[in-house]
Amino acid sequence: MKAITVEPGCAGSARLEDVAEPGVRDGSVLVEAVAVGVCGTDVEIAEGKYGWAPEGSKRLVLGHESLGRVIDPGPRQTLRAGDLVVGIVRRPDPVPCPSCAVGEWDMCRNGKYTERGIKEIHGFMSERWRIEPEYAMKVDPSLGLLGVLLEPTTVVTKAWEQVAAVGHRAFWEPRTVLVTGAGPIGLLAALVAKQHGLEVHVLDRVTSGPKPDLVKALGATYHSGSATEIGFQADVIIECTGVGPVIADSLKSVASGGIVCLTGVGSGGRVGTMPIADMAAEAVLRNNVIVGSVNANKRHWYKAGEALARADRSWLSRLVSRRAPPEEFASALKREPDDIKVVVQFSGA
Ligand code: BGC
Repeated sequence: MKAITVEPGCAGSARLEDVAEPGVRDGSVLVEAVAVGVCGTDVEIAEGKYGWAPEGSKRLVLGHESLGRVIDPGPRQTLRAGDLVVGIVRRPDPVPCPSCAVGEWDMCRNGKYTERGIKEIHGFMSERWRIEPEYAMKVDPSLGLLGVLLEPTTVVTKAWEQVAAVGHRAFWEPRTVLVTGAGPIGLLAALVAKQHGLEVHVLDRVTSGPKPDLVKALGATYHSGSATEIGFQADVIIECTGVGPVIADSLKSVASGGIVCLTGVGSGGRVGTMPIADMAAEAVLRNNVIVGSVNANKRHWYKAGEALARADRSWLSRLVSRRAPPEEFASALKREPDDIKVVVQFSGA
């Protein structure tokens, strides 16, 4: 079968090639790929900056934002042939650490977790893949192709849960949320915040293209420029860019008692004008919390499924801005100005 593979650590090594059919060791459920979303992490892996191949292998099958149709549910029979499923990305570390031991692999303490398509286990960019039944999440069939948005929705669902957990350290009645970055994560974060009944603002660099309209269609307010110039201090900031100056502005402009949740993984972007001790003093005097959030556990996958099922389908469908066949994976890995979520489509939903 065909798969998109990459040699981690080696820029430009991605290719579409013939690989062996997945073996039952990978899971008793056999799935036909429908689509796989591309995100910044995939681009980083393709650029040789991130990612690890499975032990004993030089190459890694890429892709962690899956959507597939069950071909054979295997002996467990919790699924049926034809069900639309999405594969959970992370597997607990084998030790296991206390968090992984209780199913909170997203909070893994020793870093020995594995992730499909990212860290030591093959991903989902292959014509067929296998999965353990307990890691296959059934999606609302009416979502169709939009089920491919489930994985990024789990990331923001967890982030929101982290924010709420921190918020409840004291009396908490948030009113305003600022999301920085109107990419797929930012827009889905805005959707989740809206579903929680908050006043939502989204900030991005661009002033044209689909992003401002998508934000408005959600009933949220679009801003371009800096978080320090939007005219108010948000109770919660969900930072989705990973860009140094945007993070610095978020820390400067969050309300007293407010929370900044970092979800973007950037690198570099040194902001030399903000001494760490001054930042700390500000955070102390204003009871601010900066919380990092990565990945998602099964509870978040379940909640994200509910959030997507509740969302307006026509709005969600505008997030999937481009589809490429597997042969054109290279164009899918290249960002175009108006891209929101690009998917590699293997078969019809
Ligand atoms: C994925 C997460 C993963 C993280 C770190 C993100 O792109 O969505 O599932 O935990 O990268 O590898």
